Amino acid sequence: MARKSRLTYTATLMLLLITWKESTYCNGLTVSPPENLVITDPGHLGQLEISWNPPDSLSNMTECSVRYQLEYYNTYRDSWASIRTSKRTYTAQFDLMKDVRVRVYTLLSGTCTNDTMIKSTDYTEVIQKAPSTGVVGTEVLDFKCVFHNMEYTECQWRRSEKIPDNSQQKLYFWHKELGQTEECPKYNTLGGVRIGCTFADVPLPVFTDINFCLNGSSPEGPLKPTFASLQIQNHVKCAATKKLHLQTGPDKLELHWEHPDGKVPGHCLEYEVEHNQEGPDGKESSTESLTGGRTSLTLSIDINKTHCFRVRSKVHKYCASTSYWSDWSHPVCQPEQKDVTPEPDAIWDAIPVYIYIAVAIIAMLVLSLCVWAMFKLKKPVQEKKAESLLTSLFARRPLLGPTEA
Ligand SMILES: *[C@@H]1O[C@H](CO)[C@@H](O)[C@H](O)[C@H]1NC(C)=O
Ligand SMILES: *[C@@H]1O[C@H](CO)[C@@H](O)[C@H](O)[C@H]1NC(C)=O
Ligand SMILES: *[C@@H]1O[C@H](CO)[C@@H](O)[C@H](O)[C@H]1NC(C)=O
Ligand SMILES: *[C@@H]1O[C@H](CO)[C@@H](O)[C@H](O)[C@H]1NC(C)=O
Repeated sequence: MARKSRLTYTATLMLLLITWKESTYCNGLTVSPPENLVITDPGHLGQLEISWNPPDSLSNMTECSVRYQLEYYNTYRDSWASIRTSKRTYTAQFDLMKDVRVRVYTLLSGTCTNDTMIKSTDYTEVIQKAPSTGVVGTEVLDFKCVFHNMEYTECQWRRSEKIPDNSQQKLYFWHKELGQTEECPKYNTLGGVRIGCTFADVPLPVFTDINFCLNGSSPEGPLKPTFASLQIQNHVKCAATKKLHLQTGPDKLELHWEHPDGKVPGHCLEYEVEHNQEGPDGKESSTESLTGGRTSLTLSIDINKTHCFRVRSKVHKYCASTSYWSDWSHPVCQPEQKDVTPEPDAIWDAIPVYIYIAVAIIAMLVLSLCVWAMFKLKKPVQEKKAESLLTSLFARRPLLGPTEA
């Protein structure tokens, strides 16, 4: 009996001793940052793979749960992003024209730390400087992609003025369904210069990051590349509203219209209605914004005036982070106006000034030609007089040269 209690006593003492030892160990426990931090570029136009190894000092700590805190500089948001993971790799999106900065810490927890979390005081860091290749100032300007009525995507850009002549630009893209980057399927050109790309036959997928790289070559060397990463459902431009109806009461007017055809959900649409009224005391214009997919508007109006309305639509910011206004619908008017086709007017407006100048010059030439012809027809008599005068002069003073005369 005495032996048994003695055994229990020793066991308790040993347990206490172990606990004490562990806690002193824990109190002073520090952990090193990870090792071999490497960033690799699989050629996905900005999606980089980050990998690291646990610190060597951890290899004997079986009772520890090891995790990592990865921090990287998000150049799109201009801030540090931070994630915690138990894996040893992570994939993140970077703008390859900017510095890539990544840091990792080691995190320890579990019985070895008395269930508190310990973070390494240091981090392992890799800074990858932005490449300085490419002729300076040749990046494209205003690169944007528009998802037309959620049917097909079109990307556009403007050339920098510093771009050398005979430069050839190329657009590459990648998304996770593709093994490797592909080039634009159909370039849009203006005067032989590439200004855009249409993805019509094989549509780009929605709700996934699509990475773009616009680079190229010139006689002076490679052009500075431009990178972009976006999800196309955030860049919708709706089709113009086609069906507008106007109903008039004694002093009221009701305008209603239908959602544009296509895949854009109606509740995501917001509208802008432009109201132009014209009366004896002049013109007046106002616009009204309607959200929540509302497709009608009732107004009290002055019936002695002409009222014209047109509508355009846009995907609301709750449905997409960026979106573009659709084109305006055709106007509907009250009282109904005869189809005043605005096209001819537009054409006249669109005629550049130099055509007017050319027409004016031609008119002046024709006019002067007419005047000259008239003189030519009238002149013979006068000319004959002059001619005889000259001959008589020369006859009298034959030595006089024509230059002195
Ligand atoms: C270990 O954790 C227990 C319970 O959370 C706490 O009472 C004890 O003080 C901790 N020991 C040390 C050394 O932190
Ligand atoms: C891990 O344990 C082995 C054997 O017990 C020892 O030789 C080695 O030095 C230890 N490593 C570290 C980092 O403590
Ligand atoms: C443009 O980018 C693509 C895709 O990364 C690459 O294959 C090609 O070599 C680059 N061209 C130039 C001129 O840099
Ligand atoms: C509209 O015109 C009619 C006749 O010219 C006039 O009697 C009426 O007061 C006008 N209404 C308004 C709102 O000006």
